[in-house]
Amino acid sequence: MLVGIPKEAEGQALVSAAPDGAGRLVKLGYDVCIESGAGVQASYNDYAYDNDEVGARVVDRETAWGADIVLHLDMPSDDELDLMKEGAVLICRMNPFANPDVAQKLADRKITGLSMDAIPRISRAQSMDVRSSMMNISGYRAVIEAAAAFGRTFGGQVTAAGKSRPARVYVIGVGVAGLAAIGQASSMGAEVFATDVRAEVADQVESLGGTFVEIPVKQQSADGYARPLTEEEQQQVLEVYAQQAALSDIVITTAAVPGRKAPLLLTEQAVAGMRPGSVVVDMGASDLGGNCAVSQPDQTVVTENGVKVLGPTRLPSRMPRQASQLYGQNIANLFKLATPGKDGVLVLDQEDPIIRGITVALDGQVMWPPPAVSVSAAPKKEEKPTEPAPEPDLITGTGRTERLMRGLWWKATLGVIALALVIAAPEAMTGHFFVFVLSCVIGFYVITNVTHTLHTPLMSVTNAISGIIIVGAILQITATSDVLVIAMAAVAIAIASINIFGGFLVTHRMLKMFERRPAI
Ligand code: NAI
Repeated sequence: MLVGIPKEAEGQALVSAAPDGAGRLVKLGYDVCIESGAGVQASYNDYAYDNDEVGARVVDRETAWGADIVLHLDMPSDDELDLMKEGAVLICRMNPFANPDVAQKLADRKITGLSMDAIPRISRAQSMDVRSSMMNISGYRAVIEAAAAFGRTFGGQVTAAGKSRPARVYVIGVGVAGLAAIGQASSMGAEVFATDVRAEVADQVESLGGTFVEIPVKQQSADGYARPLTEEEQQQVLEVYAQQAALSDIVITTAAVPGRKAPLLLTEQAVAGMRPGSVVVDMGASDLGGNCAVSQPDQTVVTENGVKVLGPTRLPSRMPRQASQLYGQNIANLFKLATPGKDGVLVLDQEDPIIRGITVALDGQVMWPPPAVSVSAAPKKEEKPTEPAPEPDLITGTGRTERLMRGLWWKATLGVIALALVIAAPEAMTGHFFVFVLSCVIGFYVITNVTHTLHTPLMSVTNAISGIIIVGAILQITATSDVLVIAMAAVAIAIASINIFGGFLVTHRMLKMFERRPAI
């Protein structure tokens, strides 16, 4: 199938696939073409696509729009849709939550629509989640914008001229963008505080070096999204936000409720209560209304009390190269899922919750809204028919009684062997055997009861014990000429070495997983 990457509309600096993403589609068997100049604003010229490594072709606008599958960032205009052929597939961000009529528009044109911003938030879909990719980069950029507008450093400083305290940053809304903002602001040395109506995110805030500020509203969320607040709840939270804003140098607002306009977080009074020189970055300004009553889309409003209120929209467009790369990788991951034969044929399996979740229109039919997906949704594994467990039968000895008897038999056998060894061993060895058997029993119960999270420290302890064994065995080898003792010491050294070097190998493998891959 032919995949087309046309130019985006004016104001959108991203391209829907960077060369690495386009190359992955070629490897999946697709014929990929890109409109000449489509990647220029993201710093990818035509040659970056049209080369042996990537394998895409540079074409004119009509060919790109006339492809079997068209990739785009945002919903195309009607004129652009007119260039698409019937039966084609359009993959872009359609925002069907806010524009449900988009489904009818595509169905009327017999265009199949896959909305990349509707990828369900389930772990299996993370690699395709363009919202997360874009919000992540936007959260980072919001902090950079704040830092540029702020008249001081983020980190506290002690210099010969005196000392300055670190900036205090308050993030409201701890979704993907909020978490990225917290991480970035902490790494720049600021003191970070954050709030969300979903109390479950408190741990995530702390793990990024921030402090979670409790608010009177606590929601439990099954799908990772908040629900709108009641009038009373809204009044309660606004009070906390205003108090925190007055204490902060920078406030970054990122709260969102799907399908609703951005919730109001900072009123005019709250901004009026902030210190001169403070900065507000309203990420919600890109949505209808914004999170801050004072912000204006894409403008910097300076209030009477000297607070700068930024309302940047399209933050990813300020980092188009990386944002395009991430978007293209998300798309390529979707293609990987939807191209089971790796033969360049897109298969839209409506049984798969990810594919169903993003299908807005299919073969002239409206498919929006999709059925709700629970956070833990995963494709059902084929259940293998299992042998029915034998009914407990006390007469024939099957079932539970049989298992109990088998366990007892093993324990009794081991006990008899241990007793025989104790009796047969020279008298001087008897004490050692008792210690050995006792340590086996205690060791078994201690180790099997250690929780998973403590396995790494446990490994260090066993390595230390292995070290002691090796030292003891070496002392035995040097102190005796008894062949049996030397042989046993050699075996002890071999087994303890397996533990130590095996541990090193496992650790090395784990560390490799965290190594940075070379940039593409
Ligand atoms: P998200 O859905 O992952 O997170 C939003 C968070 O806000 C959720 O954790 C939710 O619990 C919280 N929330 C909702 N109502 C709240 C309230 N009243 N008080 C406190 N917390 C509340 O959304 P994501 O992906 O992090 O995006 C956040 C916002 O940033 C959205 O409005 C999005 O449109 C905007 N955005 C703006 C960009 C720009 O260029 N200006 C770029 C990217 C995102």
